Amino acid sequence: MSQIKNSRFLRAIRREPVDATPIWIMRQAGRYLPEYRALRQKAGSFMTLCKTPELACQATLQPLARFSLDAAILFSDILTIPDAMGLGLYFKEGEGPHFTHPLRHARDIQQLSLPDPETELRYVLDAIRMIQHELAEKVPLIGFCGSPFTLASYMIEGKPNKSFPMIHNMLKKEPQVLHQLLDKLACAISLHLNAQIAAGANVVMIFDTWGGLLNTADYQEYSLRYVQQIIESLNLVEDTPVILFTKGGGDWLELMMQAGCDVIGVDWLVNLADARLQVGSKVALQGNMDPAILYQSKEMICAEVDRLLAEYGSGSGHIFNLGHGIPQDVSPDNVAVLVDAVHSYSRRLHEGDQYGRGTF
Ligand code: CP3
Repeated sequence: MSQIKNSRFLRAIRREPVDATPIWIMRQAGRYLPEYRALRQKAGSFMTLCKTPELACQATLQPLARFSLDAAILFSDILTIPDAMGLGLYFKEGEGPHFTHPLRHARDIQQLSLPDPETELRYVLDAIRMIQHELAEKVPLIGFCGSPFTLASYMIEGKPNKSFPMIHNMLKKEPQVLHQLLDKLACAISLHLNAQIAAGANVVMIFDTWGGLLNTADYQEYSLRYVQQIIESLNLVEDTPVILFTKGGGDWLELMMQAGCDVIGVDWLVNLADARLQVGSKVALQGNMDPAILYQSKEMICAEVDRLLAEYGSGSGHIFNLGHGIPQDVSPDNVAVLVDAVHSYSRRLHEGDQYGRGTF
């Protein structure tokens, strides 16, 4: 078995015994790190950072140099696919992502073509190959994409909006046009994720950040159905695991599991003990500390880590993470406290497990 398959992170995903609960953090390479801010300044913009494989590789490795994290996540963005489809992605300081050419008419959707991963998105694949070379099997690398519904929310709105009214309007008025777009996006994402896996991603994660705004029936019809289509299309190298994160998806764990993922990412509204009861031994759980806890004292961070570890309980199958991305203004010192607390406090929960001897 390769060294990486035996890592804490991949063992926890397979619910095999581990010595301690693994942790990584959504947006672990980001603005809360002074070295990230320096690198972004050097690059000139976030998009240049994403599109220059050497710099994306450096950004990916920055948090691992500081903290003993159990996984690396590719430095990139879910919106690189719409960018490669010709929408022209740019970021306005303090405002988030914007598109120069948002989708306004049915014909805009009909005219969209699928980007070729090895040309239009080659920079992502080059970054993965470079990162894997640098990581040298130290920890697994997570590749990722956004869900079709989440990408469509940004592509139709053109700029960030808390409720994305335009896609919800299209869903009511022109559902067939929306289905056309979601289907195209599912194809583009499948191609891209398969290329990420072929380039060396050990795990892939699907971020469905905005699917949680839908009611249950619409979530199934407009979001989960396309996520399932993507999962079914993956050419998994060595059974590459799939993590599915739906912010606000706490009521849908059973449905998410049926879509074929290996890990469900949950936000902080979910109780880990209840979630574990629901998913049984079918999938692992990832999450779910409220990111706001990172503004508190070191004692409070440690107490919350202890509480969440106990809420999941003993045994494998938990990957510690935040319930959403890390805010830009938390102190890296508090992140160090978090990572160390997860590793040290969790050992007692794994003592009975025969680490290294496989499942039984
Ligand atoms: O997790 C990681 O460290 C890997 C890299 C990563 C980024 N974005 C880098 C990034 C990942 C996995 C994402 C996913 C992403 N991007 C999502 C899904 C997860 C989530 O947060 O819900 C979404 C919705 C996006 C779209 C996006 N990209 C937004 C809304 C923003 C602005 C956020 C902000 O804080 O201003 C981005 C920019 C972005 N993507 C940054 C980073 C580090 C900040 C860019 C900067 O200013 O330097």
